[in-house]
Amino acid sequence: MDIFHYQNKTLMVENISVEEIVAKEGSPLYIYSRKALVDQIHAYREAFSSHPTLVAYAMKANGNLAILSLLGRHGAGIDVVSGGELFRARRAGISPDRIVFAGVGKTEEEIAYALKEGILMFNVESQAELDHISQIAVRMKKKAPVALRVNPDVDPKTHPYISTGMKKSKFGIPVEAAVAEYQRASTLPGIRIVGIHQHIGSQLTEISPFRDSFDRLLAFYEELRQAGIQVTHLDLGGGLGIRYRNEAPPTPKDLADLVLPRVKDLGVTLVLEPGRSIVGNAGVLVTRVLYRKQTAVKTFFIGDAGMNDLLRPALYGAHHDLLPVVRKDRPEVKGDLVGPICESGDFLATDREMPEFAAGDLIAVMSAGAYGFSMASNYNARPRPAEVLVDGDTYRVVRDRETFEDLVRGERI
Ligand code: LLP
Repeated sequence: MDIFHYQNKTLMVENISVEEIVAKEGSPLYIYSRKALVDQIHAYREAFSSHPTLVAYAMKANGNLAILSLLGRHGAGIDVVSGGELFRARRAGISPDRIVFAGVGKTEEEIAYALKEGILMFNVESQAELDHISQIAVRMKKKAPVALRVNPDVDPKTHPYISTGMKKSKFGIPVEAAVAEYQRASTLPGIRIVGIHQHIGSQLTEISPFRDSFDRLLAFYEELRQAGIQVTHLDLGGGLGIRYRNEAPPTPKDLADLVLPRVKDLGVTLVLEPGRSIVGNAGVLVTRVLYRKQTAVKTFFIGDAGMNDLLRPALYGAHHDLLPVVRKDRPEVKGDLVGPICESGDFLATDREMPEFAAGDLIAVMSAGAYGFSMASNYNARPRPAEVLVDGDTYRVVRDRETFEDLVRGERI
């Protein structure tokens, strides 16, 4: 049975009705399924079980402590991109030797913090950053474990805002310059070379970009070996897409089938950094319809969740399915689901066939587990939603709804 399914016309998450949870916890509300999270981490762990592999969940997709802790207990490491994310990972009990640190703009404080914690490796994005890390490590009398992020110049065929492995992108070191950069790295006093890192983009729905970039990575690994530099870790990044509408993205198994036969004799540990494919379809955002508004040309359903709660439709034009929390057999109408924010870009769906909702109805905005809460803001002084984690027929609030007092914390007149 699907984790999100209908029982007597009401939407269930595992064995509990969404309506019942929202009646107690209010709306807007993020609801996650524990089973969906565990199933996904296991899909990766099983697909790669024949080879030493660290699945370092990219917590930028969703950094809730309960989710990090749950995934950690099921064998995940964590990919962090800031000091704040490192703090969250540590607070959730993730051991530092399972943490990798990426990002183009690591500050001195963040680098020192990660060195002090003793993380598995820094994924380094530029020559200047490499020098900076080396200096800080020398000062701390340490050697920083690093992988250089190599930019393979591959088109991931996804939204331009989330493509990262093309020549024009700000990420990584161009593959042509990378051997020389590794040679230079090997002479830096604060650096210990550990791996090669690659990540070409997000929401990839075809296998071919993975194949192209993996081919280049292996060719590069060999080139590096011939130059006398041996790495122990190959970090393939994240990027596997999920089904938002009718996509049929590759699975962890498809990725494993592509990668494992070609690394099995290399003696390297694999690192993966999946984010969206772990949490995306494990969560929904529930919004309540406040008003229906009819203009000469449009039907609007105005809900209590806006772009501050779920930014993806406004920022990328992303599609999220809408499901009525209670099916009422109403006729379909073409309409927009919009939020209360003072911006025309504040929509969760536009020109969509949807049931003729009425004020008070609840709508589940599907596939909202990844880059939903983690990109939420307080714009228009709106407290961020609560988050709950369902387990079978029970749930726990894993983050309280913010209060007005939370909104002004730290400010003074
Ligand atoms: N590793 C690195 C270095 C990354 O930059 C990212 C995502 C990941 C791993 C995880 O990728 P995933 O498995 O989730 O595709 N906010 C956008 C997505 C931005 C992704 C940024 N980097 C969205 O809502 O679609």
